[in-house]
Amino acid sequence: MTQRFSFSLAATDGKARTGVISTPRGDIRTPAFMPVGTAATVKAMMPESVAATGADILLGNTYHLMLRPTAERIDRLGGLHKFMNWDKPILTDSGGFQVMSLAELRKLTEKGVTFRSHIDGSKHELTPERSMEIQRLLGSDIVMAFDECPALPADRARITESMRLSMRWAERSREAFGDRPGHALFGIQQGGLEQDLRGESAEALTKIGFEGYAIGGLAVGEGQEAMFDCLDYAPDQLPQDKPRYLMGVGKPDDIVGAVKRGVDMMDCVLPSRSGRTGQAFTRRGVVNIKNARHADDPRPLDEACTCPACSKYSRAYLHHVFRAGEMISGMLLTWHNLHYYQEIMQGMRDAIAAGTFAAWEKQFHDTRALGDI
Ligand code: GUN
Ligand code: ZN
Repeated sequence: MTQRFSFSLAATDGKARTGVISTPRGDIRTPAFMPVGTAATVKAMMPESVAATGADILLGNTYHLMLRPTAERIDRLGGLHKFMNWDKPILTDSGGFQVMSLAELRKLTEKGVTFRSHIDGSKHELTPERSMEIQRLLGSDIVMAFDECPALPADRARITESMRLSMRWAERSREAFGDRPGHALFGIQQGGLEQDLRGESAEALTKIGFEGYAIGGLAVGEGQEAMFDCLDYAPDQLPQDKPRYLMGVGKPDDIVGAVKRGVDMMDCVLPSRSGRTGQAFTRRGVVNIKNARHADDPRPLDEACTCPACSKYSRAYLHHVFRAGEMISGMLLTWHNLHYYQEIMQGMRDAIAAGTFAAWEKQFHDTRALGDI
């Protein structure tokens, strides 16, 4: 029996929602934070450890995997889940967004985009059809429609043209995806910071019909206030009964603000990338472990955190291994950051279910305002 992909809302508190996305590879508790595993690994983490932080789903990237080791090779080896030893759900981004930010000599046409690899300069093409094929070869559970978007600020004509192209690509993505029980295709809303264009995009996507809807084109240089202004209306333009995914966001306070405004899923490299540069996210804000003030400090990074970095090591040790360039530095800080992000998500899920989201949010902000110990 093939289990279908489904989403059920369990509770709402204001605009915040909690529920479960069911897939044949397991349930995804929402609001959900997805750690980024771009190159078939969440950098510095064993998959078992990623699961131990509380992650129900990972994000993978079409762009990186098509270049290296290629989707065809991953398919021959049994698919991405087996390849990277992660048997829970995987969502894959569709590649267009990464091409626009990473690749060289990009050429955008109605058909798709041609570009040169940032790794070896080799020439490639991505179209909605090829992106759907790659994500199928990878064995992705949640496939993203092929889209593109301009960096902000951009003029309205450019945003309009880009959004309408992405909507035509969304239709071709839906057509190429076909009927794949147990797998989902998400559309991606574009339209910059223009409410009417976001509305037009949402209408076009809803008409095509997707298993979930992403909010794209944000966190591309507009700042938190402008992003929240957009999120005050963008989620409401999307169907109530389907998951809403805010792409590429964000810092802890971005995530809380997004959930408050009706977002169900998010992903960001920040907790993993920052872990490798000595930056820790804690209840009391950001801590730079490289700072000399930690050199003699026997206290944990965050005394309330139950992750390995906080329960078994001192700030002095974390400072030392970072300064010495030891690999365990990135491992421990990444684990802590991912653990903290998942703790925020669990806290929000519990608070929404209990109808106490406003009190939870106040506590979140009040604790951060205290500053680091
Ligand atoms: N990641 C962050 N923003 C976006 C977006 O607008 N589209 C896609 N495909 N991925 C993203
Ligand atoms: Zn910790």
